[in-house]
Amino acid sequence: MTTMTTTQTPPAVTETAVLQATGVTMRFGGLTAVRDVDLTVNTGEIVGLIGPNGAGKTTFFNCLTGLYVPTEGRVAYKGTTLPAKPHLVTKAGIARTFQNIRLFANMTVLENVLVGRHTRTREGLFSALLRGPGFKKAEAESKERAMELLEFTGLAAKADHLSRNLPYGEQRKLEIARALASEPGLLLLDEPTAGMNPQETRATEELVFSIRDQGIAVLVIEHDMRFIFNLSDRVSVLVQGQKLVEGTPAVVQADERVIAAYLGTPMEDSPEDECLDAVEAAESAAASHRAAAAGTGAGTGTGTGAGTGTASGTSSGTGTNTGAGTDTEDHQEDTK
Ligand SMILES: Nc1ncnc2c1ncn2[C@@H]1O[C@H](COP(=O)(O)OP(=O)(O)OP(=O)(O)O)[C@@H](O)[C@H]1O
Ligand SMILES: [Mg+2]
Repeated sequence: MTTMTTTQTPPAVTETAVLQATGVTMRFGGLTAVRDVDLTVNTGEIVGLIGPNGAGKTTFFNCLTGLYVPTEGRVAYKGTTLPAKPHLVTKAGIARTFQNIRLFANMTVLENVLVGRHTRTREGLFSALLRGPGFKKAEAESKERAMELLEFTGLAAKADHLSRNLPYGEQRKLEIARALASEPGLLLLDEPTAGMNPQETRATEELVFSIRDQGIAVLVIEHDMRFIFNLSDRVSVLVQGQKLVEGTPAVVQADERVIAAYLGTPMEDSPEDECLDAVEAAESAAASHRAAAAGTGAGTGTGTGAGTGTASGTSSGTGTNTGAGTDTEDHQEDTK
């Protein structure tokens, strides 16, 4: 005899998925900041998350990391649904940095990294208070690992400096070192190059590649398009809380909807076009006039205006840092 069973099939989990967010929606009263977003990050991948200011990128990160309980949807890490509690998410293996740097300003660089290790040390309160041999051993190991991470991020020489005395770019690196101290399998970076100069940005790019090479998958939010398109295996675009496009950097860069989302849809019959037409007509007339005067009769050199218009739209939309990170710094409380 066979029995009929009805099983509710959970959303398919890809074998290689480190992160799988399914149908994530976040509403704040009447505002839907994130709407039905699916996103997967696979082992060994760097995935970029882009979108105009207010698109819902940070809110989405907050849903992934348990800072917000999503109104709807599910977030799974390596096939297991995550509880919406930040410390449990960190313990499971997801670490993050914040759009607004969050360091212990009056602690040293090394101490900040040691704080990041607390989810990975097993010594409890009593052990710490009694400072027994188990605690001392764990402390020495933590310190060694923290120093390794400072070497890795290029901050070892400043281990004893107070973190508030670091230049801005180094504070961002320290946030990464601290996040790595929890030994994550997935690192979420929220605008890691905001406020950095081009050299620092380049170094951060290299750092993210090295992190990926160590087997840590990365999901990164950035407004600097050059950085994102150089770095990412896949790029996902959020606009007004919804996923607009996802694909390889080449596919996303060429997508007209992405260009329109960043630059606004070009006006039809814009005054600029009329100007261009007038210039072309005048140039063409002058060329014909010269040709007639020279007696050759050939009218040449017209018709290139439309092509250049499109090309310049693409490069200005995707080539440079919009600098948008900085003007958002003080408009959100402590969830950024
Ligand atoms: N705690 C909150 N309460 C109410 N509204 C919020 C909250 N957090 C974010 N929002 C709103 O959700 C929307 C998305 O904001 P979010 O910070 O996620 O955008 P973002 O894509 O990270 O933008 P940016 O590129 O400027 O950092 C905005 O309209 C924002 O005002
Ligand atoms: Mg943000």
